[in-house]
Amino acid sequence: MVLTTLTFLLLGASAIVGSTNITISISSTLSYLLPSDFQGNINQNFIDTNTSDSSVSRLFSEAQKAPFIAYDPEFLDIIGPNASLALAAERKQPFASEAGVWVPDRNEVWFTSPTVNNTGYLYVLNLQTFNVYTANTSIPILNPNGGYYFNEKVYITGQGSPTQPPCLYSIDPSTGETFIVVNSYFGVRLNGPNDVTWVKRGNSSYMFFTDDPLAQVYSGGEPAQLPDAVWRYDPQDQSLVPVINRGDILVPNGIRVSRDQTKLYITDTPQIGQPGLDAAIGSWSSTAIYVYDIDEDLFPVNKRLFGLTRRGISDGIHIDDFGRVWTGESEGVVVRNKKGKVIGIFNSEVTLENPSPPLENFALAGDTLVMLDLQKIWTVKLAQTVVAPSRYYI
Ligand SMILES: *[C@@H]1O[C@H](CO)[C@@H](O)[C@H](O)[C@H]1NC(C)=O
Ligand SMILES: *[C@@H]1O[C@H](CO)[C@@H](O)[C@H](O)[C@H]1NC(C)=O
Ligand SMILES: *[C@@H]1O[C@H](CO)[C@@H](O)[C@H](O)[C@H]1NC(C)=O
Ligand SMILES: *[C@@H]1O[C@H](CO)[C@@H](O)[C@H](O)[C@H]1NC(C)=O
Ligand SMILES: *[C@@H]1O[C@H](CO)[C@@H](O)[C@H](O)[C@H]1NC(C)=O
Ligand SMILES: *[C@@H]1O[C@H](CO)[C@@H](O)[C@H](O)[C@H]1NC(C)=O
Repeated sequence: MVLTTLTFLLLGASAIVGSTNITISISSTLSYLLPSDFQGNINQNFIDTNTSDSSVSRLFSEAQKAPFIAYDPEFLDIIGPNASLALAAERKQPFASEAGVWVPDRNEVWFTSPTVNNTGYLYVLNLQTFNVYTANTSIPILNPNGGYYFNEKVYITGQGSPTQPPCLYSIDPSTGETFIVVNSYFGVRLNGPNDVTWVKRGNSSYMFFTDDPLAQVYSGGEPAQLPDAVWRYDPQDQSLVPVINRGDILVPNGIRVSRDQTKLYITDTPQIGQPGLDAAIGSWSSTAIYVYDIDEDLFPVNKRLFGLTRRGISDGIHIDDFGRVWTGESEGVVVRNKKGKVIGIFNSEVTLENPSPPLENFALAGDTLVMLDLQKIWTVKLAQTVVAPSRYYI
């Protein structure tokens, strides 16, 4: 849907107009110190916490209607004084959930739908016209999930099907020419590549991706055989090497490199809310964001905890040019500064029609945030260019 049409529609509905541009600032002190009769719940959002203090109650109930919640002035600098949500596209059924791949030279965001009945789609949003179309690929993309843009190719993870192994695709966005890059390890199927990033070193580049056990749940594939891992594909050396073991990250999910190519951020998602699977994969590890340094041999080393997910999991992850870490969580798009402080949230209580399933991913497209809210795609024009295109080219 074209933006101007939509703005007109929104102006007609006063209840929505008011909520598309409210920013609420909440003192970050409240994130660790509340009136002691507080009632908070890990299955509800922070702003759903109740206390007997009427000013806190009023603030939280206003925040429940605000798309932008700031816990730090740095977040206000990102969104600017007049931030507003713009509806870029809308469908009756969920169609926008994963990837969020900004293709700067085409002014597009590539994204993927949820997988329903073993079928998922790869779509393209044109950021100029807000048209959405199905990606043109020379071979079918089976159950696409995460993705990354690098050196004029879009890389998409595929969860496979009962008959086709999970794999990683490369797609030339200008011709649709598509290749399978990786689909096995010495003759064993991958479990389900989830997300992918490229790391540059000198004139070389390396693809890191997460492999997790979730594909069989979504696309009816075979049960996992390999231990879940993070893998490095080296096109120079023609090798596929496991680099993080499931003892370190139990269910690796989102993965991104920092702008300066020195750090790898990975989300661990051991509990996905499906009791049978949660029991099978265990719950000793945390739903969390970890950061590693990348050593001279391209191994991730020095694992540190970067953040714990307050509610649900941290799914999609993007690192901006200022070292801030943006994640898709049940509360919405959560932004942490490079020291790990939660500085603000793009609030899912406003952007999502239903709290479940939660937002999974989004794109940082220069100075625009593109949120994949299932039936809706929202954009927010930011006051800063948070990601410049140069990191996506060698
Ligand atoms: C929200 O946007 C509308 C239309 O642009 C404007 O009239 C209104 O003042 C804004 N409200 C706030 C709280 O900024
Ligand atoms: C706060 O109170 C409301 C209304 O009674 C209730 O629906 C909600 O679950 C409470 N929140 C928490 C976190 O207990
Ligand atoms: C924000 O809106 C106000 C009131 O409409 C306007 O005066 C100001 O220039 C705007 N600021 C920016 C950065 O757009
Ligand atoms: C998925 O399959 C079920 C069972 O066959 C069917 O009831 C449902 O309508 C299908 N959903 C979609 C979106 O095709
Ligand atoms: C789709 O991709 C094929 C190559 O895979 C190409 O021949 C064709 O021109 C493309 N069509 C469009 C509309 O881009
Ligand atoms: C990278 O390639 C350029 C051009 O081929 C060459 O001049 C340069 O020395 C190379 N740099 C490294 C670190 O290999």
